[in-house]
Amino acid sequence: MKSVLVLFAHPKFEHSKTNKALVSKIQNREGVTFHDLYERYPDFNIDLPKEKELLKAHDVVIWHHPFYWYNCPPLMKQWIDVVLEFNWAYGPEGNALQDKKCLNVITTGGAREVYCSSGNNHYSVNEFLRPFEQTARLCGMEYLPPFAVMGTHNLSKENLDTYVDQYDELINALQEGKTFNITKECEFLNDTLLLNKKKEA
Ligand SMILES: Cc1cc2nc3c(=O)[nH]c(=O)nc-3n(C[C@H](O)[C@H](O)[C@H](O)COP(=O)(O)O)c2cc1C
Repeated sequence: MKSVLVLFAHPKFEHSKTNKALVSKIQNREGVTFHDLYERYPDFNIDLPKEKELLKAHDVVIWHHPFYWYNCPPLMKQWIDVVLEFNWAYGPEGNALQDKKCLNVITTGGAREVYCSSGNNHYSVNEFLRPFEQTARLCGMEYLPPFAVMGTHNLSKENLDTYVDQYDELINALQEGKTFNITKECEFLNDTLLLNKKKEA
């Protein structure tokens, strides 16, 4: 079974609805290390050896966060800046993360239809996430499409419950080392999971 490290960053987790629900089902799963960065590092003083040790010990790395100004919250950026060191994560001698899988799990206030060239946000979520994609690639990791929960302000309890189950299914697939059949119509891993389910039915 593959081991999964969930690096979680939410500056106001006590007020969270969507991420609280998403996290509830996966955080105590066997083989999953749920690492709440704001809880562990409220002073932003990241323990570099500890983070390196955690990364080394896992096969899959998830950057899980709400979308804040089309990006991650600041502590996650700090984590990237501090932990992904030259000649450790990248560079001529930097191969510590080689061949691990990596992806973003994000929640957005904006609905899916506003994240396109004709929508209010002009760009897709995947386009906004390009720096994460390239960061993962530079570190030799295999970057997967994001798992996204969008339109959080208007999400019904029923829809949220569906996403909670989907996230759990995703973790299961990652642990089993399943290969995702990523096609053009699959912008998000949510789409891939749904497509695979339809094919299996
Ligand atoms: C400071 C801040 C910036 C935000 N920026 C964005 C944004 O760029 N795009 C977007 O779709 N939603 C944005 N939102 C909305 C959050 O993404 C949304 O409230 C969150 O994903 C909901 O998850 P939660 O219930 O776990 O807090 C922002 C919210 C805050 C507080």
